[in-house]
Amino acid sequence: MDTLIVTGGAELSGTVNISGSKNASLPILAATLLTQEPCTIRRVPDVSDTNYMVQILANLGAEVERASGTVIVKAEQVKSEAPYDLVRKMRASICVMGPLLARLGEASVSLPGGCVIGDRPVDLHLRGLEELGAEVQVEGGDILVRADGEIVGKEMSLRGRYGSTVLGTDNVMMAAVLAKGRTVIEGAAAEPEVVDLADFLNKMGARIEGAGTRRMVIDGVEELHGAEHTVIPDRIEAGTFLAAGAIAGKDVTLKRVNREHLTSVTEALDRCGCQIGFNGESMTISRASNPAGCNIVTAPYPGFPTDMQAQMCALFATTPGISVVTETIFPQRFMHVAEMKRMGADIEMEGPTAVVRGVERLSGAPVMASDLRASAALVLAGLTAAGETQVNRLYHIDRGYEHIDEKLITLGAKMQRVKG
Ligand code: EPU
Repeated sequence: MDTLIVTGGAELSGTVNISGSKNASLPILAATLLTQEPCTIRRVPDVSDTNYMVQILANLGAEVERASGTVIVKAEQVKSEAPYDLVRKMRASICVMGPLLARLGEASVSLPGGCVIGDRPVDLHLRGLEELGAEVQVEGGDILVRADGEIVGKEMSLRGRYGSTVLGTDNVMMAAVLAKGRTVIEGAAAEPEVVDLADFLNKMGARIEGAGTRRMVIDGVEELHGAEHTVIPDRIEAGTFLAAGAIAGKDVTLKRVNREHLTSVTEALDRCGCQIGFNGESMTISRASNPAGCNIVTAPYPGFPTDMQAQMCALFATTPGISVVTETIFPQRFMHVAEMKRMGADIEMEGPTAVVRGVERLSGAPVMASDLRASAALVLAGLTAAGETQVNRLYHIDRGYEHIDEKLITLGAKMQRVKG
């Protein structure tokens, strides 16, 4: 297991290219199962989660070629059973369920387990597929969905206790594109990654309207064809580098970003006193000359992303004043807090809310990465901490950040990956 040793105190400056979105790539790769024709997907980040998805597609019978960010998938023949050994490694593998059901009339996918960011149910995915006429059984840890005859479009709500579901919306959308008649999804997720998937499906011949709003209308078609697509920039990777710039940067420029996708993050950083310059598809950030804390509440898009909450805690840990961070999507997603406290952060938890009192400086310590975004937050915390921060279990960060250590080193950070 690799470890990252971060030596705090270096100033970051220069330019970093933002990769394609991990969370858009995963369902888009799954959607290639919907056609026998080849699909070409560009700017797929080289991270372990996309590697797992490529392996799952290959295991299902697709021919997959991957070279420098481009993945070509030809799913001439596919089987309906996703292998447990691969599926259990990544929760997002659940999104092969919709395409397999639509293409083959059945799918068998292992039930994803819980994970450190909290309980992660799939009831809304299953309810949506049932609404389309599929029969759902959970047996021996596997979800079996089967449609005798055609799946048929329907009007449904996918609104859950915590609002909309991103991968649930994706799964139902991918099944509905080949259903008979019209499907209406109320309470649909409006995240940019959902819109990117809908754009790809429409390029394949699907008829989807309303992606990016809470009401999507999908008119089923007989079949889909191959298509080419370039994945949107990763707004969470971009947000993470913005947070790095806010913590330790002087003129850190991010290239290949979508400004609109980052509005809630740049607004929060603006409230903290950071000035961000925008120039087409790039933005530049420096540490605030007069930093101030602020309050954030996570919410579905266009609200503040839960996937940026941990990185903001790292920023607030050394921002003067009190900042209040409330998590409404995954109320238990605070594994980074205990680790940051080991570095000297002053954070108090009140239910799903973290009250962060900025300290002057954190001190480096050995810390344990627990999930993707928590690990990124610990690396950020190490950037200005006194001495060395040793981030263990680095595989969490490699799931979703393309060469984050190399990119930070290019900006001037002092860190070293120790292979283990
Ligand atoms: N939920 C249900 N029932 C369901 C599905 C979800 O109650 O059937 C609840 C969840 O427990 C949560 C809320 O609904 O409280 C939202 O979860 P959602 O389904 O939207 O999450 P997801 O689709 O499984 C994606 C991202 C996550 C990101 C969330 C929220 C991918 C591969 N994953 O997960 O990304 O946090 O949306 O925006 O797209 C990450 O990249 O680090 C990550 C965890």
